[in-house]
Amino acid sequence: MKKFAKAAVVLAAAGALALTGCGGGRVETPAASGSGSGPVAGFAKDAVIGVAMPQKTSENWVLAEQLFNDGLTAAGFKGTVQFANGGVSEQQNQITAMIEKGAKVLIVGAIDGSQLGTQLAAAKQAGITVIAYDRLLTNTPDVDYYVAFDNFKVGVLQGTALLDGLAARKGDKKKWNVELLAGSPDDNNAKVFFDGAMSVLQPKIDDGTLTVLSKQVTFQQVVTQGWKAENAQKRMDTVLSGFYQKADLDGILSPNDTLARAAMASVDAANKPLPVVTGQDSEVESVKSIMAGKQYSTIFKDTNLLVAQSIKMVQALQTGGTVEVNDTKSYDNGVKVVPSYLIAPVIVTKENAATVYANDKTLGPLTKG
Ligand code: BGC
Repeated sequence: MKKFAKAAVVLAAAGALALTGCGGGRVETPAASGSGSGPVAGFAKDAVIGVAMPQKTSENWVLAEQLFNDGLTAAGFKGTVQFANGGVSEQQNQITAMIEKGAKVLIVGAIDGSQLGTQLAAAKQAGITVIAYDRLLTNTPDVDYYVAFDNFKVGVLQGTALLDGLAARKGDKKKWNVELLAGSPDDNNAKVFFDGAMSVLQPKIDDGTLTVLSKQVTFQQVVTQGWKAENAQKRMDTVLSGFYQKADLDGILSPNDTLARAAMASVDAANKPLPVVTGQDSEVESVKSIMAGKQYSTIFKDTNLLVAQSIKMVQALQTGGTVEVNDTKSYDNGVKVVPSYLIAPVIVTKENAATVYANDKTLGPLTKG
């Protein structure tokens, strides 16, 4: 299946990134606020709104389900939120059913953003507005808006955290051995996260600061099918037994918390010293691990904000108003640049966790001694 490589020139100068090119990735830093060019037509206040979610591969998706159900109901809509734990064809069928049910807006968190073209074309035919949620819908003209955290920035923060963590925890050395993990290749985000991280790490590999003993450094070599913990753990087991019998592994770039914990379990089973491990999603177990001094970092992407922004878009469409976007340049899906509303992700380590999670009812208490 074709995945978009971001044809981008990455200039990672002090975190200031200038990107050009196209294709399923982030291509430029956010522009000033503006409005999208998608169809804006009013519809009934109690319209059906279809929310098609992927598998529950991390806690953020589970939380989104409840927030969408509550938020859409509170706004007066008939929300129908469905997960496709069975895979792509199940998600295709769910979207078709939502269209048949008369949905006015579809909010789609795709399992594979490139495999929904037929269903989205049917949605368009039926006059439905399509919003890509968290993951870009690629290879289709039939997506109107994208609402997400800035995925490339997530990767940049992860790469930077890995370097910071190595200096902080293993500063007796000046050169470190690291291994890389990426997410599922069918999720458009996975490559964007990886590219963001590599914009920071590749120069350090090139100048010899970092060594990847396995030599597995391309996205295809380090992906984790289905974002599954067991797949990441298996790969780390093989890498550790193959390349780290006599060497220490100092750091692991992990794209999210689930895979971070899997990687740490693998290191633990191999009786190796704890490496610096990055993450994403602020999952409860990982926040606990960070506070216990184990996992080094995670990323906070407040699902409340993402769902609230999605519902705001639906409300604007309902009244025939203007849908707010803040980026009309960055996310090219291979067919068009999708008007986007991007939210800034936040890096979290033990040092700033209490501040970042201060207003979060679940995570805040975990940071108190
Ligand atoms: C999301 C991440 C999440 C991953 C696995 C990605 O598309 O952006 O937050 O960790 O999916 O669920």
